[in-house]
Amino acid sequence: MSTEQEITEMFDRISPTYDRTNTALSFGMDRLWRKKLISNLPKRASGALLDVATGTGEVLLEAFKQDKIQMGMGIDLSGEMIKLAKDKFRASPFRPQANFVVGNALSLPFENETFDAVTMSYGIRNVQNVDLALSEMHRVLKKDGRVLILEFSLPKNELLKKLHLIYLRKILPNIGQLISKSKSSYVYLNKTIESFPYGPSFLNYLKAAGFGSCKAVPIMGGITTLYIGDK
Ligand SMILES: C[S@@+](CC[C@H](N)C(=O)[O-])C[C@H]1O[C@@H](n2cnc3c(N)ncnc32)[C@H](O)[C@@H]1O
Repeated sequence: MSTEQEITEMFDRISPTYDRTNTALSFGMDRLWRKKLISNLPKRASGALLDVATGTGEVLLEAFKQDKIQMGMGIDLSGEMIKLAKDKFRASPFRPQANFVVGNALSLPFENETFDAVTMSYGIRNVQNVDLALSEMHRVLKKDGRVLILEFSLPKNELLKKLHLIYLRKILPNIGQLISKSKSSYVYLNKTIESFPYGPSFLNYLKAAGFGSCKAVPIMGGITTLYIGDK
């Protein structure tokens, strides 16, 4: 497993091409997956959303576009990602309602029961301690709040799974290198996708952190999964 410093340096390094590489690697589907995540957010008049491992702020942007929240806070280990998120919001109408900070999912710098909802998209796979990250998310959520986690997974269907593994092992690292010039980052992506728990196994982590009504919603045959839990 990579250290926190290695993870930070890797995301700092690929940040300039991060959005573009995502679009290429997912054939533009990553936006639809985040839309799906946000469509599962309950609408509240005073909705405050924390997006953990926010990257360039795409989840918060989508939440504002769908008019699901009043206030958004994004946190990420990578200072370069946070800079890009701030730039993106500076050029958007949602600037006054959004804040971004550099910080760690394992020790969220917020009071207990601060947010109506907490999201994490493609971040949980990268943290050093999944249990601690989930219990931190649970801690900062208000009672009746919801957590929404989007993460890569592997299809149940054996043929689809075989084809997807060929894509992950042989094609993805090369496209990643072409755009970001960093093949190792996209080999890392492939390896963490293959080894990270998904479906019912990941639901056990959510339940252990104290979430209820937990469900896993496979998307596109299971190449990615949306996890939902309530406090
Ligand atoms: C694959 S990117 C996902 C970014 C964004 N959520 C998205 O959907 O595009 C993973 C992000 O997790 C961040 N990250 C990794 N470990 C973290 C941690 N312990 N605390 C906060 N952020 C972390 C990385 O810096 C990176 O920006």
